[in-house]
Amino acid sequence: MGKVISIANQKGGVGKTTTSVNLAASLAFYNKRVLLIDFDAQGSATTSLGINRSQLKGNLYDALMGDKNLEEVMLSIPVLDKYHMHMVPATIDLAGIDMKLIGLDDHVYILDKLIRKVKDSYDYVLIDCAPALGISTLNALYASDSVLIPIQCQFLAIDGLTQLLNTVRVVQKNLKINHRELTIEGVLLTMLDKRTKAGWAIVNEVKEYFQEGVFKTFITSNVAAQVAPTYGVPILTYAPKSSAASLYKSLAKELIENNENKH
Ligand SMILES: Nc1ncnc2c1ncn2[C@@H]1O[C@H](COP(=O)(O)OP(=O)(O)O)[C@@H](O)[C@H]1O
Ligand SMILES: [Mg+2]
Repeated sequence: MGKVISIANQKGGVGKTTTSVNLAASLAFYNKRVLLIDFDAQGSATTSLGINRSQLKGNLYDALMGDKNLEEVMLSIPVLDKYHMHMVPATIDLAGIDMKLIGLDDHVYILDKLIRKVKDSYDYVLIDCAPALGISTLNALYASDSVLIPIQCQFLAIDGLTQLLNTVRVVQKNLKINHRELTIEGVLLTMLDKRTKAGWAIVNEVKEYFQEGVFKTFITSNVAAQVAPTYGVPILTYAPKSSAASLYKSLAKELIENNENKH
C-alpha cells in the first residue's frame, strides 16, 4: 500500500513544488512507483514538468468534482529516459476550488476518497500543496499518512509554522477517530546559502525547534534547481550530475530508509 505524503507549508516560495517534483523523480530513479499530485491552482509542478493545457485529458479539478477518475487525468512523466512517474496535473480550473469543495459531503475527504482507489498501485504518492491552509490543503492532509515541511533557510524561516502545526494537530485528532495516523515525515531545509552565517544560523534554529524531525539532507541554493523547470524536466533529467540532483537523490534515499527500515 502506497504511502501518501503532503508537501506543505502555507508560505509561498519555500521550495514545496521544487521538492515535490524532484523528490518524486528521485524516488522513481530508485525504482519506486510514484504518483505526484499537483494541488495548486498555479499549476507550477505541472508546468515545471513541461505539461501544457492542450495536452491534457483533464486535471485534478475534474476528478475532485467527480467527473473523472484520477487514472483518466494522469500522465506518465519520463525521468532520465529509463524511469517514469505518474502525475495528476493542475490548471487554473482549481482557482476557487475551496468554495466548490465546501458544498460537498465530507468535504475534507474528497481527495482521500480518490487516492484510496489508486493507492495500491504506488509506493509513494506525493501531493504538492498550495501556499494556504484552506480546504484544499486540508483535503491533502486528510488524505495523507505524513507531511513533509520544506523550510527556506532565510530570515523568519519558522515564522507561521505554529499555524501549520496546529492544523496538523487538528487533522491528527480527527484521523485518530478513524484509526488513522498523520505523522510528520520531516522538515526539509531548502535553499541554504552555505557561504553565509545567516543561512547556517537558520539551520541551527530549525534543528533546535524540530530536533530529530529535520531531514539530515538539506537542499542548498542551486542554479540547476532554478533552471530545470524552464526546460520542463526534473533536475535529474536536466543535470543528472549536478549537486542539486544528488541532494534530491539523497533526500529520496533518506526517506526510503526511514520508511523501509521501520518494522
Ligand atoms: N534549491 C534551490 N536553489 C535555488 N532556487 C530554488 C531552489 N529551490 C527552489 N528554488 C526557486 O525558488 C522559487 C520558489 O520555489 P518553489 O518550489 O516554487 O516554492 P513553493 O512551491 O513553496 O512556492 C522558485 O523560483 C524555484 O525555482
Ligand atoms: Mg508551489
